[in-house]
Amino acid sequence: MGRKKIALIGGGQIGGILALIGAQKELGDLVILDIPEVEGMVKGKALDIMELRPHDGYDANITGTSNYADIEGSDVVVITAGVPRKPGMTRDDLLSVNLKIITNVANNVKKYAPNAFVIVVSNPLDAIVYAFYKVSGFPKNRVIGMAGALDSARFRAFIAMETGLSAQDVTCMVLGGHGPTMVPLPRLATVGGVPIDKLLSKEEIDAVVKRTREAGTEIVKLLGNGSAYFSPAASIMEMVESYLKDKKRVIPSAALCEGEYGIDGYFIGVPCVIGSDGIERILEIDLTDDEKELLNNTLTAVKSTVEESKL
Ligand code: APR
Repeated sequence: MGRKKIALIGGGQIGGILALIGAQKELGDLVILDIPEVEGMVKGKALDIMELRPHDGYDANITGTSNYADIEGSDVVVITAGVPRKPGMTRDDLLSVNLKIITNVANNVKKYAPNAFVIVVSNPLDAIVYAFYKVSGFPKNRVIGMAGALDSARFRAFIAMETGLSAQDVTCMVLGGHGPTMVPLPRLATVGGVPIDKLLSKEEIDAVVKRTREAGTEIVKLLGNGSAYFSPAASIMEMVESYLKDKKRVIPSAALCEGEYGIDGYFIGVPCVIGSDGIERILEIDLTDDEKELLNNTLTAVKSTVEESKL
């Protein structure tokens, strides 16, 4: 049968860590693809991880390329390709550059990996994942956007930091778009089953929610050059693993909603069951009126980005 094959389209900061984690978890062989101008860089990263194998003991092949033929037959494709927002660039400029990139990527993925489960990461996420879906014509269960896995990991980390308890025991849910309008749901957060309002004051919970919403920006400011990559890569790999091992984990992710949560025709963050059929189910829960209003705000933000992309 051979090993599974995972294509990483974009071998920048996140792409490189993805290759490392994917190899360490032995999820399959990894192909890192980037533009011809930086082919040497991705070949170098791949070779460096190959040379880590004697220490770590994993058996996986990691290669770098700029040739799409090398992703042929991939089981999973993760897309981080894109340009970051540079000083002087408007959101519209960023959107139009990254839309061109995703169109090219989608056509190639359709040609070389037509059966893959595709995880889109490039920003602005909600519009780019929608664009991939439209251009590729892939079924909705095989196109997913990574946002909620990261946003909820951040929420969990902050609850753990605030309570002094293990991050592993924190569970929570974050709905909505990827950005400041996301909807963390403190009502449903627990540490080992204990609701967080038994552990933290209202003020502390509000502060944790606010920090979660702004977590991406907090890291951008600290790094000074680029955005987060360790936790994003680990979040993506949880999704890849759940798919390849049919784990059926419940991971908040951007999925095409067709009626769920009263949303129709948009990719938005909802709790997804990820298994060997891709997005197998979207779990629906009853929201309070306040939560519904927050979800409505985030939907307005997502709609406006998607409409700007004129797809
Ligand atoms: N095809 C393939 N790769 C491309 C293309 C393309 N057409 N255009 C750009 N790339 C590559 C770049 O050369 C770069 O190596 O995509 C990579 C992006 O890497 P980084 O700039 O390091 O960005 P990273 O931190 O990995 O984030 C990737 O995820 O979270 C989002 O906002 C983030 O959109 C960004 C993406």
